[in-house]
Amino acid sequence: MNAVPSITLNDGNAIPQLGFGVFQIEPKDTAKAVSEALEVGYRHVDTAEMYGNEKQVGEAIRSSGLDRRDVFVTSKLSNGAHEPGDARRAFDATLSELGFDYVDLFLIHWPLPTLYDGDYVSTWKTLEEFNSDGRARSIGVSNFQIEHLERLAAETGTVPVVNQIEVHPYLTNEAVRSYGREHRIATEAWSPIAQGWVLEDPTITQIAERVGRTPAQVVLRWHLQRGDIVFPKSVTPSRMKENFGLFDFELGSEDMDAIAALDRGEDGRTGPHPDKFDYVPS
Ligand SMILES: NC(=O)c1ccc[n+]([C@@H]2O[C@H](COP(=O)([O-])OP(=O)(O)OC[C@H]3O[C@@H](n4cnc5c(N)ncnc54)[C@H](OP(=O)(O)O)[C@@H]3O)[C@@H](O)[C@H]2O)c1
Repeated sequence: MNAVPSITLNDGNAIPQLGFGVFQIEPKDTAKAVSEALEVGYRHVDTAEMYGNEKQVGEAIRSSGLDRRDVFVTSKLSNGAHEPGDARRAFDATLSELGFDYVDLFLIHWPLPTLYDGDYVSTWKTLEEFNSDGRARSIGVSNFQIEHLERLAAETGTVPVVNQIEVHPYLTNEAVRSYGREHRIATEAWSPIAQGWVLEDPTITQIAERVGRTPAQVVLRWHLQRGDIVFPKSVTPSRMKENFGLFDFELGSEDMDAIAALDRGEDGRTGPHPDKFDYVPS
């Protein structure tokens, strides 16, 4: 059976634990990829203003004939729009690009602590407005480190429902995940297969061979059993199906531990470090 479980967020809303990511899918290829993913059974799509493909995500969902309520849609605030006035305009633009009157989840994409005088707090308070007026059913953050989460907790009234961070076998990001667990912030694991880097690891290929699954399925199943939310990206329909076939097998605790032991700490990070990242689109 391929029933995707849901996770209940700290605001009571439910999110499918497995979704489909569209980072680095060209706008011209996005509607086709999302349509194929919906056909496979995915009901959760993760996009962002900075991916440049919100419009095509919306088109594919509308043309699927599915009820809007049956597809969970996440988007994220551009790094160039952290000031409250800009954030309000950017959120309006996100809804208009998607062609929807709400998103299920809206995130601050990066904390950018070295920009905007280190003020991601007023950005978060602006997301609270979108949540209060119902246009963002849930609000969360992405790439927040523990100190950033602690500051939101001290200075604002809403706990993010998720923190979307880089997590895979080479960067298990345990401290940030564990802070999330303690504070009811669900972890969304981005680049869950490290864009393919972990798939040839002998520990993973040996487990895959023994359990009769592919390396990608083993790694994605490992994330799910840890309780994290994942949305692997693929433009390849056979891989979309492969990545969806995760609910008819289970990894034992020894295999779970062996995969977690592959952690390389900072050497395993594939993306920028959240404390330093300061990219702003021109
Ligand atoms: N918040 C953030 O800052 C942030 C950063 C990065 C990513 N994300 C989100 O996380 C999602 C997933 O991360 P990601 O796209 O970076 O990487 P990923 O899902 O770990 O890996 C995607 C890559 O792996 C390949 N692939 C997918 N399934 C495969 C399989 N079964 N076997 C072999 N190769 C496979 C894909 O190739 P093909 O497409 O050619 O099939 C693609 O090159 C993104 O799409 C985005 O939604 C968020």
